[in-house]
Amino acid sequence: MKVAVIGATGQLGSDLVKVFEEVIPLTHSDIEVTDLSSCEVLKELKPHIVINTAAYHKTDECEDNPEKAFLVNAIGARNVALTCKEIGAINVYISTDYVFDGSKEEPYTEEDIPNPINVYGISKYAGELLTRTLCDRYYIIRVSSLFGVAGASGKGGNFVETMIKKGKAGEELYVVNDITMSPTYTKDAAVAIKKILSSKLPYGVYHVTNDGFCTWYEFAKAIFEITGIDAKLNPTTSDRYPTKAKRPKNSALSIEKIRFYGIEMRHWRDALRDYLMEKGYL
Ligand SMILES: NC(=O)c1ccc[n+]([C@@H]2O[C@H](COP(=O)([O-])OP(=O)(O)OC[C@H]3O[C@@H](n4cnc5c(N)ncnc54)[C@H](OP(=O)(O)O)[C@@H]3O)[C@@H](O)[C@H]2O)c1
Repeated sequence: MKVAVIGATGQLGSDLVKVFEEVIPLTHSDIEVTDLSSCEVLKELKPHIVINTAAYHKTDECEDNPEKAFLVNAIGARNVALTCKEIGAINVYISTDYVFDGSKEEPYTEEDIPNPINVYGISKYAGELLTRTLCDRYYIIRVSSLFGVAGASGKGGNFVETMIKKGKAGEELYVVNDITMSPTYTKDAAVAIKKILSSKLPYGVYHVTNDGFCTWYEFAKAIFEITGIDAKLNPTTSDRYPTKAKRPKNSALSIEKIRFYGIEMRHWRDALRDYLMEKGYL
């Protein structure tokens, strides 16, 4: 089973590349998803599965650059989908918890209707719609609040690294305690994605996150508890730190569907500990 990974040097992409035996890593210089003719490289490589992790995901920047957000996240998805259809490959589009509006009190399931509230979320939902409209053999995999050893190349790091840097520097930290999400270690997400594919689960939408959920403040607190960094951490509310893009108040994702198929995810706290160990903080 030949698996092409688009965005191979990215945070999730680099872990995906590690879990598959027969893998074709495609970096941004190998393929430009916004350009249909660039996707022709897939026709030569003939993978059985294409996993598209490419994204423009600086959420606040997307508000000012909707054209770029749609070009990469939606038209890019379309170009990959059309190419997959032509070569008969299974198309895996990596999506986001930000397709939801956050008004639900419980974790979102795959049955919940998306209603994105920022440009990034709208463009990713458009990518989902194009993927499922253009391909019969597709998986839309929604992940959330990623942390991985490579750090998000599109964001220049990840939340864990930012907290550790600022915490160690003795900065007074104010972190929102009214936004809930499911932190996800990219290493665990990559393994689960591989299981979805190797188990040949029915095509469709899947949520893949670590087990459990928390606020960003609780996540930061856990980072400092586990590492023993004596940080000046304070809880705050999102109305005190307005951002350009609105964020869903709750974007925790339910992983009951993959659990039903026998895919277990460890708790985000255990995954965080493992990540911190791997990064040499413990
Ligand atoms: N990070 C999160 O917290 C988070 C949360 C929910 C969902 N997601 C989704 O998860 C996926 C992976 O996120 P990540 O954190 O691993 O992102 P990342 O580290 O920024 O990786 C994205 C990869 O895609 C490449 N890329 C960007 N634009 C491209 C284009 N136009 N054509 C081809 N390749 C392109 C990037 O290469 P260059 O860096 O060289 O441009 C990079 O290797 C994305 O689809 C994102 O929407 C992420």
